[in-house]
Amino acid sequence: MYGKLITFPNPQQISLSIRASALIFADPESQKLLALLDRIAPSNATAYIRGDTGTGKELVARHIHSMSSRRDGPFAAINCGAFSETLVESELFGHERGAFTGAVTSKIGWFESANGGTLFLDEIGDLPLSTQVKLLRVLQEREIVRIGSRKPTPIDVRLIAATNVDLEEAVRAGRFREDLYYRINVVPVQLAPLRERQGDILPLVEHFIAVYKDRLHTAQMKLHPDTLSLLHEYPWPGNIRELENTIHRALLVCDGNVLLPGHLNLPHIKAEAVKLTEESRRFNFENCPLEKIFAQMFDKEHAELHDFVMHKLIVQAYEHSNMNQVQAAKLLGISRNVLRTQLKNFGIID
Ligand SMILES: Nc1ncnc2c1ncn2[C@@H]1O[C@H](COP(=O)(O)OP(=O)(O)OP(=O)(O)O)[C@@H](O)[C@H]1O
Ligand SMILES: [Mg+2]
Repeated sequence: MYGKLITFPNPQQISLSIRASALIFADPESQKLLALLDRIAPSNATAYIRGDTGTGKELVARHIHSMSSRRDGPFAAINCGAFSETLVESELFGHERGAFTGAVTSKIGWFESANGGTLFLDEIGDLPLSTQVKLLRVLQEREIVRIGSRKPTPIDVRLIAATNVDLEEAVRAGRFREDLYYRINVVPVQLAPLRERQGDILPLVEHFIAVYKDRLHTAQMKLHPDTLSLLHEYPWPGNIRELENTIHRALLVCDGNVLLPGHLNLPHIKAEAVKLTEESRRFNFENCPLEKIFAQMFDKEHAELHDFVMHKLIVQAYEHSNMNQVQAAKLLGISRNVLRTQLKNFGIID
């Protein structure tokens, strides 16, 4: 269904269901996504897929390929983070015999392997800056030069890139070239976390039960109503892959034909906690000077540190918004009422 498959690094590692499964796009959000995919697939435009881990980025890339006029051509997938800086270029562009120590034979790269088809560059944010320059040139000139060669080879490849990190942040931090970012970000495709597309959960569960039931030769399974509630309440930080693994495991441990909440063996994680971790990743708090400042503040005991920090935060946001409460509340991600209470507590408004 997907044309010729070339997968990397190890085809066996890729979940079988990627190739075998029907796609589930049941939630209204997912249906909108599917409509977008159908619209962009026939074009040759570079697609840039963003989504947290396990949200289906590779599956969506394969779907775009299978719906395009290149469907009979190859689909090559390469994880840019899987290679050392020195190897990644020869993987992408190939090399001639003797191009470097150890290059005993010539080898074609992934661009050439994908000729006439689609090249999926996964974790593109992991490419070293020097390779980013070369990639940009390849995309502009539509030809590659193998390492150790001078002869350019024309290539006809549709590129699909994916990341689960914030590339904009990487551009700001100087880790990703801005010009390459704009080259790639022609058609952005954003995949929502599973907990934000609740309508997909049950169809996915049924789908995975069917897939694994056949594979494990287990009986037809029913879901206990409490299991169903739990599946909808759990925040799924690992998204669809976590759901798939959970169902697989549950079918292995379930000895009857009703799946009970205990069979899912889900850890106790609150949705709030997952959201906070994701936000902090999005804001890249790790590199944020705030943490250093806090650490300095903790060096000595301050009786009123909490109020001091809150006061600074609220007042600065309020001033930054020219005393506009709606604006300040938005900046802080709180409601106007909460902001007003704080402003009153600090004696800033009556
Ligand atoms: N819409 C879908 N319908 C059915 N199965 C899906 C769907 N989306 C994802 N899956 C399944 O979920 C698993 C994870 O998908 P995939 O590998 O595409 O995610 P990913 O975003 O590339 O993950 P990672 O960031 O970890 O690389 C796969 O087994 C895939 O078959
Ligand atoms: Mg992936």
